Amino acid sequence: VEPSAVPDQPSTSPADVLGFDPFDREFLRDPYARYREMSARGALFRTPGGLLVATTHELCSTLLRDPRFGRGPGGGPNRDPGQPVESFLWMDPPDHTRLRALVSRAFTPRMIERLRPRVEAVTAELIDALPEEADLVEGLAYPLPVTVISEMLGVPQEDSERFRGWSEILARGLDPMLTDDLVSETGRAGREFRDYFRELAALRRRRPGDDLLSALTQVRELTEPELLATCVLLLVAGHETTVNLIGNGVFHLVRHGLLGHAAQRPKQVVEEVLRYDPPVQLTSRVALEDAELGGVAVPKGAPVLAVIGAANRDPAVFPDPERFDVTREPGRHVAFGLGIHFCLGATLARMEGEIALSALASAAPGLELAVAAPPYKANVVLRGPARLPVRLRRTG
Ligand code: HEM
Repeated sequence: VEPSAVPDQPSTSPADVLGFDPFDREFLRDPYARYREMSARGALFRTPGGLLVATTHELCSTLLRDPRFGRGPGGGPNRDPGQPVESFLWMDPPDHTRLRALVSRAFTPRMIERLRPRVEAVTAELIDALPEEADLVEGLAYPLPVTVISEMLGVPQEDSERFRGWSEILARGLDPMLTDDLVSETGRAGREFRDYFRELAALRRRRPGDDLLSALTQVRELTEPELLATCVLLLVAGHETTVNLIGNGVFHLVRHGLLGHAAQRPKQVVEEVLRYDPPVQLTSRVALEDAELGGVAVPKGAPVLAVIGAANRDPAVFPDPERFDVTREPGRHVAFGLGIHFCLGATLARMEGEIALSALASAAPGLELAVAAPPYKANVVLRGPARLPVRLRRTG
């Protein structure tokens, strides 16, 4: 086991280091029970393996916003030593600021709003094509965001099966404490993904199209490794996050008999799904200098885990937090993070989630789950059902 991004304690088990067992199926099915036990041990507590874990809204917010905490020189977890450059997700200012600015123009609310008719059309096509008995992950939750980000970047549809595999492996690679096998698999997927984008970027440089990749190839300040890392980041984010917002959303709405609300108040519904079962469950920072958090000294270089899934159910901020309540006033959930790394795709993800859930609720208001408990992906950081079998029970 590679204890990356956590204290160097090779003899300690992942569960001892992290405070939860990332390989436990029961934990993956319902991490919230374990989070409650963790927060009972303190807003910020030290695991037996020596890792600091923040479970409250207040401390997670401070961790994500306070400039004394950041990524540090180590980069992301499970980083491939042969990888020339990390994406800006894993950088601190000033490099983070420079690289994020280059792509952020494509993700402003105005630019995203221009995509709305296309997102609606893709959603309608996918829902029309769903058979009566369908897997909603395969048929809607996955292909919608994938089609949208692929079109934005200018990635040919016919290559989609190739980057589906790489993207899935890289998503798993976000998890802390992977086995050596998974770490080397992650390294290989990253290299193949960058090779793919190197070729495609060369094509677009010669013959630019009306897409983000073409635009980025024209930016002189961007080195080639930076360009490739940015493309991989956007494509993986587009493949592995919103799928879980839609999957988690359908599951909780139907389970609670609340699907109809998605057609009436899609914005509120999406915010409650993001709060209640966030697609990104946790992230981490290291102290960039000797610091203090919640009264605990955090020495320079020490990592701290921010458990988003726990912060979003903090009773100090959300009344009756364990209740899935789509009529709740949208509050201050941290599903998209906070501070300088606040999710660049938040406007896009919200729009996709709102359109998918409301269109499904209108087309199939009597939709039923075909299983009581869908299987979850084996990931800790990116949480969502692997499959979601349903019966549509469409009338017309
Ligand atoms: C960063 C969540 C969808 C692109 C983040 C972070 C979170 C997050 C929590 C911050 C991580 C940290 O601070 O360590 C989500 C969720 C999504 C979603 C819950 C879907 C519901 C997307 C989409 C895209 C995207 C669709 C783009 C296509 C990014 C990028 C960053 C980021 C580029 C890095 C920002 C930075 O480092 O400055 N996301 N994301 N995300 N997200 Fe998302």
